[in-house]
Amino acid sequence: MVEQSTANKPIRCKAAVSKVAGEPLEMTEVVVAPPRAHEVRIRILCTSLCHTDVTFWRMKDFPAMYPSILGHEATGVVESVGDEVVEVAVGDTVVPVFSAQCGDCADCLSDRSNICSGLPYRPGGMPRDGTTRFSFAATGEPIHNFLSVSSFTEYTVVDVAHLVRIEPGGLIPHEMACLLSCGVSTGVGAAWKVAAVEPGSSVAVFGLGAVGLAVTQGCRMRGAKRIIGVDLNPEKREIGKRLGITDFIDPNDVEGRTVSEVIKEMTGSGADYCFECTGSTPVMAEAFMSSRTVGMHVSHVTVWQTIVQRQQVAKITDRRFFFFFFFFFFFFFFFFFFFFFFFFFFVVIA
Ligand SMILES: NC(=O)c1ccc[n+]([C@@H]2O[C@H](COP(=O)([O-])OP(=O)(O)OC[C@H]3O[C@@H](n4cnc5c(N)ncnc54)[C@H](O)[C@@H]3O)[C@@H](O)[C@H]2O)c1
Ligand SMILES: [Zn+2]
Ligand SMILES: [Zn+2]
Repeated sequence: MVEQSTANKPIRCKAAVSKVAGEPLEMTEVVVAPPRAHEVRIRILCTSLCHTDVTFWRMKDFPAMYPSILGHEATGVVESVGDEVVEVAVGDTVVPVFSAQCGDCADCLSDRSNICSGLPYRPGGMPRDGTTRFSFAATGEPIHNFLSVSSFTEYTVVDVAHLVRIEPGGLIPHEMACLLSCGVSTGVGAAWKVAAVEPGSSVAVFGLGAVGLAVTQGCRMRGAKRIIGVDLNPEKREIGKRLGITDFIDPNDVEGRTVSEVIKEMTGSGADYCFECTGSTPVMAEAFMSSRTVGMHVSHVTVWQTIVQRQQVAKITDRRFFFFFFFFFFFFFFFFFFFFFFFFFFVVIA
């Protein structure tokens, strides 16, 4: 039941606050200020845990900020709205997403990008003014916002540019809809829209967590013929098979070979597409080595941080970061090549 009477008033509620890096979250009473212009206050129905929450929870330095309320995958109900909000109304069921879509900037209007330049990410605060709507009930001390969402709380305030309305009681139960906030849309969007995997392709997915399993589904929906799942956890074999992998590799069980050697053996010359979904640099290198040498495509989900987002919950879209990644890769490659070339000929030989 939506409490209309709370509109325009601060709400006291419980939240799990991260106070010190790596320490348990503290359940405490907080005050959630009313939404300002373009903002929406939401009662959280359910929230899930993305690995990025864990990464920030462990992080000692900026961009981690303390105290803060983590969590960015959620389903909620609109409790009240600030001025100028016309996109959602009190009582709507919504899914917040951490990347904005102002709808007006060149990036929002582009088919190739969804990194909104109109509302760039502001660590710790709301996207339009950088301030927070959270404070400790006991002391009034401000609590930082996280990824423009902060869902480990009974109520949160989210900019309307970070919200997607979904059908209440629709096909997707609330506890599943919250996965659309990040993990599922990241993975499906990476495979479907950004990499645009072709029917008949061979694919390797490194890490079968929320993101990797969603990549698997995206590849299956795209008609990939062979989907090789790689995970240190052998229990991922079964769930991976249920969601579309055709083969499974446990990196601890490759008999002295590297995972990329095994994948090259299985596919002939390497997989057409490789997706790194663990957030680990050595795994990214292995994913790179597992790719087919001609027409190589490497998708690194962590690099593609912003492929997810609002459009992909409503309508999956594409972006430019892929090209930036390769631009920087080749820039550094040529820089080091010429540096060593000149060093060798003009310093060593001379
Ligand atoms: N928009 C984005 O780009 C975006 C969105 C969500 C998550 N992420 C990032 O993607 C990564 C995965 O997130 P998640 O929520 O799916 O994590 P998760 O913890 O649910 O899954 C990670 C999986 O990787 C496996 N794994 C770990 N190390 C491995 C290794 N060396 N080799 C093979 N498998 C290994 C684990 O067993 C686990 O199954 C994280 O780094 C997260 O921060 C990025
Ligand atoms: Zn996430
Ligand atoms: Zn925009």
